[in-house]
Formats: sequence, structure tokens, C-alpha cells
Amino acid sequence: MKVTVCGAAGGIGQPLSLLFKLSPYVDELSLYDVVNAPGVGADLAHICTKCKVSSYLPANDGLKKSLENSDLVIIPAGIPRKPGMTRDDLFKINAGIIRDLTIGIAETCPNAFVLIISNPVNSTVPIVCEVLKKYNVFNPNKIFGVTNLDIVRSNTFISQLDSTNQSKPEDFNIPVIGGHSGETIVPLFSIGAPQIYSSLSSQQKASLINRVQYAGDEVVKAKDGKGSATLSMAYAGFELAEKIIKLAVQSSSNSTDSSVTACCYINLADSINGAADFKQKLNSDINFFSVPCVLGPNGVTEIDSSILDKINNDESDLIKVSVDQLYPNITKGINFVKNY
Ligand code: NAD
Ligand code: LMR
Repeated sequence: MKVTVCGAAGGIGQPLSLLFKLSPYVDELSLYDVVNAPGVGADLAHICTKCKVSSYLPANDGLKKSLENSDLVIIPAGIPRKPGMTRDDLFKINAGIIRDLTIGIAETCPNAFVLIISNPVNSTVPIVCEVLKKYNVFNPNKIFGVTNLDIVRSNTFISQLDSTNQSKPEDFNIPVIGGHSGETIVPLFSIGAPQIYSSLSSQQKASLINRVQYAGDEVVKAKDGKGSATLSMAYAGFELAEKIIKLAVQSSSNSTDSSVTACCYINLADSINGAADFKQKLNSDINFFSVPCVLGPNGVTEIDSSILDKINNDESDLIKVSVDQLYPNITKGINFVKNY
């Protein structure tokens, strides 16, 4: 299993690369960045785990060399927010970075899983998909916008409200659907487990949802101009990546095939089981949404649309707002590639 981290020398890239270096499922870790990749690589290579580390800068075809034979590429490349900025403000710089990295993926390792962390996720994932389509190598089952930090935060924040103290933060499993910015983020606390949400007051419920939707701002403000979430993001990105890697490794070593479900921001392509059903229940033709994905060794096998049968009216209203706000973000990403 070869993993490539694009943006490996950054605030997210470094701790994320450390986690991959420690994983027993990763044989080879390739680090790519426009600066300092060799330094991070030399440092990580001294850790006594089996995983081989290589590092690349853009010179001498570094991107292609870093991507060659990659099974999974994860992208935290690009600029982060400063106080007062929206994620959409990052589009101007990050859109071009993501497009160029995806061209490298299309030309070098078109079958790899691609996990996109760079913001604005609502638009960068459509960019990746459009580029791969242009190169005729698009496989919607393998392209993931990483929204797992919203789930990690939801689990943490609700656990802090558990007055019985009977559950640990890691016991919670709150699905979060929609997008990854403000009101596009829709945590579904009413159907998460363990169920303590129903015991909260209306005011507690409203402020919990608001906290999840604007948790990124909490970190941006606390870092005071020095960037946004990095360590929690590395944790969340690795958690999702490891699920995908484990399934692929287990299947190639003929051990028991299993599946897991994870909410990820994906292209709701007609070819994915459950996508049409999910859109019908949303009453929308939206093409990108974070949804509960049933994952197998080759990526998404199905979207679990049954989740929409269980939500309450307030959550339905939140979803409508999310869908409305996501449309222009998605169109912006698609048009960026169409007009290139
Ligand atoms: P950072 O500035 O610390 O690191 C970014 C790295 O990308 C830098 O090392 C930089 O040299 C590198 N880079 C820039 N252009 C590149 C290119 N063309 N190719 C390869 N590498 C390149 O930023 P960060 O804090 O690590 O954040 C990275 C991105 O992740 C931001 O866009 C941020 O908004 C986003 N983010 C997303 C989530 C999420 O939940 N999806 C959470 C946190 C941050
Ligand atoms: C987050 O949610 O922490 C990230 O999207 C970074 C940001 O800009 O808030």
C-alpha cells in the first residue's frame, strides 16, 4: 500500500504523514510539497517502523515521481484561512493548486483513492471530479471530500453535554451530512448514538448544532492568524484514510471482506447504488453531498439513503438550507475546470 501526501510539509501534512508512518497498513509513504518535503521526509524516516519514506519537490518531475504507483493520495495542499475569511475566499488560490495536482493524478495513478482536504471542500471536490472526467479516468467510488472533522467534532461536543458521564467521547457516532462550511454542515444528532440529544433543551440543541457548523472558526480565531485546524484535521483525515486502506489491504490478502460506513462528500453519480434514491429523498438534483457511504475494498459500494427516513423536521429544514447553499459552490468548481 503506497500513500502519497500532497502538501506534506504543511500544518496538516506533517502530523498526517506521521500517522501514516506509524500505520501497520502502509508500506510506502511518499511526501510531496512545493517546500521542505525532503526535511519532513528525513525526519520521519528515522522512526523505526517498516514504512519506507520518500520525498519530492516539484523539480525534476517530482509530482509524477511522488504519485507513481500510489494506491491512495491525500491532499492537504493549499492555503488555510485567517480570521475574517470564509472558506470560499480560499478558492482563488487553492482551485488552481487542486486542479494541477489532479492532472498529475490523472496522468500517473488514475486508479488511486483520492481524499481531498483542501478548502473550500464544497468546490475542490467538484474540481477534482471534473479534471478526472476530462482525462476519462473518473471513478466516483474512489473520490472523497474529507468531512470527517465535522463528525469528530460532533462526537466530541455532544459527549461534553452528557451529564450522566456514562459514555466516552469515542463511543459517539453522529452522522454529519451536507457540505463543509457553515450552514452546509448538517449534524444529525437525533439519530446518532448513544442518544442523549433528546434530553437536551431546545437552546442546548440549537447551540450544539451552531457550534459544529462554526467549529472551524473557533480554531481560526484561537490561532489568531497562524492558520486553521491542523492536528484535529490530521486525526480526522487519517481515521477516514485508514478505514479505506484497511478494507483494500484485507481484500488483497484474502482476509475477511467487510464493509464500514463513513460520511464523505462525494459525487452522487447515478452509477452508485442508492445515489438516485438519496437525491429523490432530498427532493433535489444536487450532484455533490456528504452522505453515509458504505465502503468496500474498491471504495463506495452504496449510499445509505435510509438515514433520511429517520431524521426529524428540524434536520429536514437544515438540509434544505444546506442544499441551497451548496449549489453555487459546486457550480463554481465545475465551471473553473470547464473554463480552463
Ligand atoms: P498549511 O499552509 O500549513 O500547509 C499547506 C501546505 O501546502 C504547505 O506546506 C504548502 O507548501 C503546500 N502547498 C502549497 N501549494 C502546493 C502545491 N501546488 N503542491 C503541493 N503542496 C503545496 O495549511 P494547512 O493548515 O495544512 O491547511 C491546508 C488546507 O486544508 C487548507 O486549504 C485548509 O483550509 C484545509 N483544511 C481543511 C479541513 C477539512 O475539514 N477538510 C480542515 C482543516 C484545514
Ligand atoms: C475546519 O473546519 O477546521 C477547516 O475547514 C478549516 C477552516 O478553515 O475552518
